[in-house]
Amino acid sequence: MFLPQLLVLLIAFSSQASAIPWLYDAHDENVNQRRQQSSTNGSWLLSKDSLGSGVDRLALFSSMKGSQGVLFGGMATFDVYGLQNFNTQASYSYMCVANHQGDDYSTENVVAAGWMVSPTSYVDSETHFYTLWTADGYKSGGCYNLDCDGFVPVQNAPITPGDTLDLAKGKLNITIKIFKNKVDGDWWLYFGYNNHKLTAVGYWPKSIFTNMVDHANLIQWGGYTFSETGVASPAMGNGHWPGIDSASVRDVRFVDDSGSGYKIDPWPGGLGASISHKESYGATISGDEMFYYGGPGGCTK
Ligand SMILES: *[C@@H]1O[C@H](CO)[C@@H](O)[C@H](O)[C@H]1NC(C)=O
Ligand SMILES: *[C@@H]1O[C@H](CO)[C@@H](O)[C@H](O)[C@H]1NC(C)=O
Repeated sequence: MFLPQLLVLLIAFSSQASAIPWLYDAHDENVNQRRQQSSTNGSWLLSKDSLGSGVDRLALFSSMKGSQGVLFGGMATFDVYGLQNFNTQASYSYMCVANHQGDDYSTENVVAAGWMVSPTSYVDSETHFYTLWTADGYKSGGCYNLDCDGFVPVQNAPITPGDTLDLAKGKLNITIKIFKNKVDGDWWLYFGYNNHKLTAVGYWPKSIFTNMVDHANLIQWGGYTFSETGVASPAMGNGHWPGIDSASVRDVRFVDDSGSGYKIDPWPGGLGASISHKESYGATISGDEMFYYGGPGGCTK
């Protein structure tokens, strides 16, 4: 049942990452390759530069429902940071909702939202709110933000995918909720600050998906970084190791098809940690519906 990609990941993980057997990484090593391949269509590429080959690293928690699991959504509140001195590195903090069936990686359906710093993508060093979707394992369909058809923004949205997040007023906490609305069957994205007054940003129509038309079976929350081969890994989160000074993810919940959050049961036993490079990053549960994650990076391994 192992995915080729998972084998690559497991080989890459020198430490005993507690990856669950069927877990795939929505940002696995092939993604950058595919982003490059599809760059001629402009769909996966945000800007002029192409991402070189490199190393993907992650520290995240995944729902443990298995491929037969039925999930309609998830939510979380992320604190947001500015990260300096990036060149070609990129750092993401996100939640993704996915459906993965069998061992055919090319059918992966994924939607994600969070914040990211990627000068290569945005041609600035700001922290951006981002979304992405794919219905074919990051091949030709799908893209970031509004770079292709797919995500439908709604009027009076509190934010637009790709927007810069204003960190001038101090620590920002953004809440992201993604769920399949039982009324129209589409996958809706809601956004707010401090888990307050969440407002619709837009939706991914059910028609763009293949195996995520009915439900998802995997939700992940955490951090991901990319750096070119030989280039030191960048900071994840706020650059601190998991603890009271680090980045956190709060209000970590599943969401039902009415849009209501509910506790992951058992907490935290319903989640599995995946940490690909323990010399760079970590992720640890802290209290109810919350975990710390991130790290300084700085490794070329
Ligand atoms: C470009 O888009 C077309 C139509 O969606 C697709 O068939 C083709 O594979 C894409 N090309 C690349 C390089 O992804
Ligand atoms: C963000 O959340 C933390 C933890 O709940 C809180 O202490 C802080 O005041 C929040 N920041 C803002 C700007 O609301």
